[in-house]
Amino acid sequence: MSTPLQVRVSTARLLTPLVRELTLVPCTGSLPGFSSGSHIQVHLPLGERTLRNAYSLTGDPADSHQYRIAVRLQQASRGGSRYLHQQVAVGDTLAISPPANLFAPRSTARLHILIAGGIGITPFMAYLKALQRQQANVELHYFYRPGLTDAYLDELQERLGPRLHRYAAGTPCDLAAILRERPLGSHVYTCGPQRLLDAVRDTASTLGWPASRVHWEAFSAARPGQPFELELARSGQRLQVSAGQSLLEALEAAGVAPPSLCRGGVCGQCMTRHLHGEIEHRDHFLSRAEQAEFLMPCVSRGCGPRVLLDL
Ligand code: FES
Repeated sequence: MSTPLQVRVSTARLLTPLVRELTLVPCTGSLPGFSSGSHIQVHLPLGERTLRNAYSLTGDPADSHQYRIAVRLQQASRGGSRYLHQQVAVGDTLAISPPANLFAPRSTARLHILIAGGIGITPFMAYLKALQRQQANVELHYFYRPGLTDAYLDELQERLGPRLHRYAAGTPCDLAAILRERPLGSHVYTCGPQRLLDAVRDTASTLGWPASRVHWEAFSAARPGQPFELELARSGQRLQVSAGQSLLEALEAAGVAPPSLCRGGVCGQCMTRHLHGEIEHRDHFLSRAEQAEFLMPCVSRGCGPRVLLDL
């Protein structure tokens, strides 16, 4: 696992009552460069445990002197977003993992159709800076709740003009109309709530879009569940996974974790073989057949008293 970078919060801005933007600068030296669609993991010390939440970098990839993230306050969170909203102040230091990119725009696309729901706008902020610099053909469809999850709306309106299509909550929207009869070589990208992602993918599939031209990113952070015991087959070690902790976090606390990238059950990095115990699978990576053998500890967890892992 790569060494965390130490950064300082240089500015903090409340974009809406639910979305707080933080700008991060290096404590020493410089930051690694990043490409549009990259995210970082922010390490959040919450009492005795450390959460790592993934956030898209919203700044300009051409300027890696600073990183910028926007954090949506989640009411049902395990405390990570609340910590970044309420505890972190300008001047504070945070540990982050270097940028990784699982959601890069395709350079050969003739048309980029971006579909964002709420905080799902964040990766597209970096996309737009890079794509507009390249004078790429791009349009943005933004679904939001006015005054709550409409971060950057004015800036986007100014920057995109008629290429921004706005859908305030309650506005009728026909995804098929967005995706129908697009030029060959178009790519669609979507980020936001799972139901939006599912709707975009289903509509694209119904209209005959090849899967290779439909891209999506979901940062569904680990949700709490019941506590259970974890046993590691190779070392014989036993660990307790608490209700508010992910299986991956329990492994990290014990220093035996697999690598992780998305921490949302989509990238496949943390795949681990399970040997015994009932599993609640919450990932979007494994097939049913694969889930019989493997799990994604960043999101999935035991739903019985004990889980035995091949670690
Ligand atoms: S870290 Fe990506 S699936 Fe677990």
